[in-house]
Amino acid sequence: MKILVIGSGGREHAIVWQLKQSRLVKKIFAAPGNPGIGLIAGCVNIKADNIKGLADFAQKNNIDLTVVGPEIPLTLGIVDEFMRRKLRIFGPNKQAAEIEGSKAFAKEFMRKYHIPTAPFQIFTEPHEAISFVKSAGMPIVIKASGLAAGKGAIVAKTQEEAVEVIENMMVQKVFGDAGAKIVIETFLEGQEVSMMCFTDGKSVKMMLPSQDHKQIGEGDTGPNTGGMGAYCPVNFVDEATQAFVKEQIIEPTISGLQKENRIYKGVLYAGLMLTESGPKVMEFNCRFGDPETQAVLPLLKTDLADIFISIVDGNLEVMDELEWHPGAAACVILASRGYPQKAETGKRIFGLRNYSDKKCFLYHAGTKREGKNWLTDGGRVIGVTGVDKDLRSALNRAYEVVESIKFDGMTFRSDIGFKANMQWKKSRV
Ligand code: AMP
Ligand code: GLY
Repeated sequence: MKILVIGSGGREHAIVWQLKQSRLVKKIFAAPGNPGIGLIAGCVNIKADNIKGLADFAQKNNIDLTVVGPEIPLTLGIVDEFMRRKLRIFGPNKQAAEIEGSKAFAKEFMRKYHIPTAPFQIFTEPHEAISFVKSAGMPIVIKASGLAAGKGAIVAKTQEEAVEVIENMMVQKVFGDAGAKIVIETFLEGQEVSMMCFTDGKSVKMMLPSQDHKQIGEGDTGPNTGGMGAYCPVNFVDEATQAFVKEQIIEPTISGLQKENRIYKGVLYAGLMLTESGPKVMEFNCRFGDPETQAVLPLLKTDLADIFISIVDGNLEVMDELEWHPGAAACVILASRGYPQKAETGKRIFGLRNYSDKKCFLYHAGTKREGKNWLTDGGRVIGVTGVDKDLRSALNRAYEVVESIKFDGMTFRSDIGFKANMQWKKSRV
């Protein structure tokens, strides 16, 4: 098969690497990809939001399967366009991608199908939102309904702060049109975990649970980023919790989408809070999470291309259960100074090398190549993943590699996985 992977981050590098191991795959293209991906696949200079350009490329080059990494092309309707042209593609169609593209839709959908989530209200008028928070308990969570690159959810601790957030979103329009409609919801206490599944719109195969580290600073402090690291599996997500998430959250979501004729063939990602009264959905994403994917896929033993094909053909139900390597994986993101505000770029990177033992992975995100030199080219530069018999060893392995890589202003969190071994109050399921 010839496969086209759309996107240019660490997530896409992890997907491409995994596909590369498949006996079914002959050639992989990435659009636009990045120079790290370029070491193992052919990069094509077409942007991820250029739907027509991507479909033309797939048609001309007889691509057998296209896999979409990021949310933007999905919410723009790339799947609909490919399906119209009878091209095989892995991802939800535009209507189904609304589960991520519109938080207002996602919340109303969850209410309709009784999927556990925080109580909420939706507002389109700033004065109504403001008068609501003036009589609400704090903290409270205010979210732009549209896509805001992971930065559109804000926890307000005081009423003054809540009013300011509403004004920024709805009047100053800091997230553009994405903030024209907002969701205000109850603050949930508990542990965050990410659960992704593969689905063909009818049946579901769960991936192992993982945990992201959204904040820039050690101990979860400072502003939110796209994610500073992840690990997999998560030891405090026991089998009962996994079963609850599958049966009470993921399956009803998939069957609800099916009832509404929203065609979902892809990955559904649930960002969950494990609260004392059970797991609750904070957000759905219509794609693989990043950086979670950089910690989950290295543990996947089943052929990823096989999974994609079963899904596109609508045969996921008859596929064997997914197989996973034992042990754990941990991913540490190396970022540029200034991230997540204004990241420095153009710094020479030292110490990159190839690891071929399947115990260490360097997933490129913001790198650039100039002759023989590697330079930084974005906020998140590289994800370093270590795989080993347990989380501690996987982390040691990842941090050992991190120590060997250097660039001016290199920033990373040295506490990835710090919540893994704490004693949490059990989430009742
Ligand atoms: P979201 O984009 O909706 O996942 O929100 C981003 C981050 O905000 C989450 O990863 C949580 O850390 C936090 N968050 C979102 N919703 C809530 C909530 N209802 N209660 C507590 N924290 C939340
Ligand atoms: N790691 C969160 C996301 O992919 O949106």
